[in-house]
Amino acid sequence: MSTADAVAWPVEQIRQQFPALQRTLNGRTVAVFDGPAGSQVPQRVADAVAGYLLHSNCNRGAAFATAVESDAVIENAHQVLADFVGADDPESVIFGANMTSITLHISQSLARTWQPGDEVIVTRLDHDANVTPWVLAAEAAGAVVRHVDLHPEDGTLNQEHYRSLLNERTRLVAIGYASNATGTVNPVREMTTAAHQVGALVYIDAVHYAPHGRIDVAEIGCDFLVCSPYKFFGPHAGVLWGRRQLLEELRPRKLRPSPNTLPGRWMTGTQSHEAIAGSAAAVEYLAGLSELLPGDGEARGKDLSRSEKLCQVFTRIQQYERSLSEQMLDGLQQVQGIQLYGIGSSGDLSQRVPTFSWTFPDCSTRDVAVWLADRGVHVWNGNHYALPFTESFGLEPGGTVRAGALHYNTVEEVHRLVDGLQEFRSR
Ligand SMILES: Cc1ncc(COP(=O)(O)O)c(C=O)c1O
Repeated sequence: MSTADAVAWPVEQIRQQFPALQRTLNGRTVAVFDGPAGSQVPQRVADAVAGYLLHSNCNRGAAFATAVESDAVIENAHQVLADFVGADDPESVIFGANMTSITLHISQSLARTWQPGDEVIVTRLDHDANVTPWVLAAEAAGAVVRHVDLHPEDGTLNQEHYRSLLNERTRLVAIGYASNATGTVNPVREMTTAAHQVGALVYIDAVHYAPHGRIDVAEIGCDFLVCSPYKFFGPHAGVLWGRRQLLEELRPRKLRPSPNTLPGRWMTGTQSHEAIAGSAAAVEYLAGLSELLPGDGEARGKDLSRSEKLCQVFTRIQQYERSLSEQMLDGLQQVQGIQLYGIGSSGDLSQRVPTFSWTFPDCSTRDVAVWLADRGVHVWNGNHYALPFTESFGLEPGGTVRAGALHYNTVEEVHRLVDGLQEFRSR
């Protein structure tokens, strides 16, 4: 029996909740490994989006019923998402169109507090959405951008280099929680502590990490953290948590009639209320998995708070996904001529999520993705906007082939992925 089989995880009950996972090609269900670009959505999330549009659809603040309901849906979502990131203040949670737009917004406001000669640190493992906004903001303020290098052998962040860049001029450190190219999980708490020692603020991009592990901003100690519900089983939207004092002191670019108070002062224009309703439903879906977990002496889901359920569920998701990582790593390493990027030792699986990137020396990444797509296996090809990484490893313009597993993927799907690659190599 494989380790993944041995980890008790109700994957079939979970899959039944996702209509998209029932899709077939040539009589077989497709194997979706495109979660890093966007996860699939359970029925209850689609119901929440449709329910809002069909029954409560309205702008905010009016006296009549649908406006009152809209206010209630959105206020509830602030609380639910605060629980999701481990925050106790729902007003410090901001909704926006997506992580990129939110980051461009915040970075412009932060840049107004910087002086020429101030420094900003970004990393070569980050998605460009946590790099270019800071480069543009630094340019506007005359600040200097420093880039943390990667270890060439496994693409992990060079922590010594990071520490050597920190100094009393550092104003901000922008770090990814997990890489959407290699799956590496960064030591964000330690990096945050080091940044705070020199008085810098810390902005964490948790977009890739969010479906894989419990986020706890209080434990990390960061100043801002951003994620995107469409990567954790919700609709297209972005969410930011920030320290109340910073969100109150910084000046947003905003219209005069829009609120000056939190959270509204950072929520530009009319939001996608249906996406906000769906984002809360995605968190409720995750918390609700607690009730599916086999009883093993832990408190049953219904007796726990939402935050406690999320902790319990993510502990089990991590166990299950680690076993998928083991299978993926094992299988992929046996494919002839494969060049894998990222942590490749099974002893270090706790430092990665099951997102794998690879190339073959003699063929295009697109050809591999097309071959697998024709066999009902969905993987991505390209740079995944993790441009600093693909540039550092000389992988432009083709990038990598990337397969990312989530808690709804199965061992059988991992075998199909590996078998598809073996056939591709021996064709
Ligand atoms: C790690 C990471 N950061 C940021 C982003 C950008 O997020 P959004 O599409 O919400 O702007 C992505 C999207 O793929 C991502 O994977």
